[in-house]
Amino acid sequence: MNRVFSGIQPTGSLHLGNYLGALKRFVEMQDDYECIYCIVDLHAITMPYDPAELRANTREVTAGFLASGLDPERCVIFNQSQCPMHPRLGWMLSCLTPLGWLNRMTQFKEKAGKKREQASLGLYGYPVLQAADIIGYHATHVPVGEDQKQHLELSRDIAGAFNRQFGVDFFPLPEPVITGEATRVMSLRDGTKKMSKSDESDYSRINLNDDRDTIALKFRKARTDSEPGVTYDAENRPEASNLITIYAALADTSRQAVVDDYASAQFSDFKKALTELAVEKLGPVGEEMKRLMADPGYVDGVLKDGAERARAIAMPIQDEVEEIMGFLKA
Ligand code: TYM
Repeated sequence: MNRVFSGIQPTGSLHLGNYLGALKRFVEMQDDYECIYCIVDLHAITMPYDPAELRANTREVTAGFLASGLDPERCVIFNQSQCPMHPRLGWMLSCLTPLGWLNRMTQFKEKAGKKREQASLGLYGYPVLQAADIIGYHATHVPVGEDQKQHLELSRDIAGAFNRQFGVDFFPLPEPVITGEATRVMSLRDGTKKMSKSDESDYSRINLNDDRDTIALKFRKARTDSEPGVTYDAENRPEASNLITIYAALADTSRQAVVDDYASAQFSDFKKALTELAVEKLGPVGEEMKRLMADPGYVDGVLKDGAERARAIAMPIQDEVEEIMGFLKA
């Protein structure tokens, strides 16, 4: 059986990288797979945070899921803290994970930065919780952007370690699904940096809840180079290449097709076309998010129903894990 699991952290706004690298794929996969999509609030507390913001962001990311086209009738949408499997299995897996594996994780190094000694144990163990998220549902496919590749490899290693240690063939090894043209969307201000929630400049990213004027303004202001034509060269023209990538992903076509279509155009004309395309595709998503945010009762209802369905899948698997691991249920 094929089952999809993926998650997004409710830290700050969803941005175009989340949308093109993950959410668009989530939406496509809901037709062909049993899909479970999670707002990973337990991951969001690994860095300092504000409780009121966490609550608001959880609703907002849920609204973003729905506005992007996820259908709660066809997939499970819930927030992680509402299914007790995640921290339970996370703990158990953490006892099987060698420190050496975690020491290789580049995301921890980036996030902890120079303040390694102050970083929380939770931030360090984050990838083990992520492994629990996935394998605790026996998920087989995990759509993510490129930055999650290393965490996915670790999830496979942890699943394998469990199977070996207990002599079982219990956890399937999950496959990362890193596909499409925009698996790594870059900042609009610096084509060598990933588009991210944590960049201080709001002009570096398109937020999914930006209105049409803001989207247009940000694309108009997006950094480019002085070459006149539309050519893809990630090394020497990182900003221009990023905009070509974004166009291709928004138009559901390939970079090559975009370059061919604009072969005789000036870059400024291409940028205008991109701005129009982005406003046309993303404007309605932001508007739907606003509409949903005005109806928190509906959003909460989706999460409540999703959490029930998530628990119904995960808790029997967790029971089996505990049986395999030798926990006595007297
Ligand atoms: P997060 O919340 O940082 O990002 C959510 C998803 O968006 C993708 N993404 C991008 N894709 C392309 N270009 C970008 N600039 C860009 N920025 C972000 C991410 O790759 C991700 O797919 N650890 C995860 C959350 C998580 C998870 C999981 C994912 C927790 N448990 C289990 C999959 C399965 C994270 O921090 O994603």
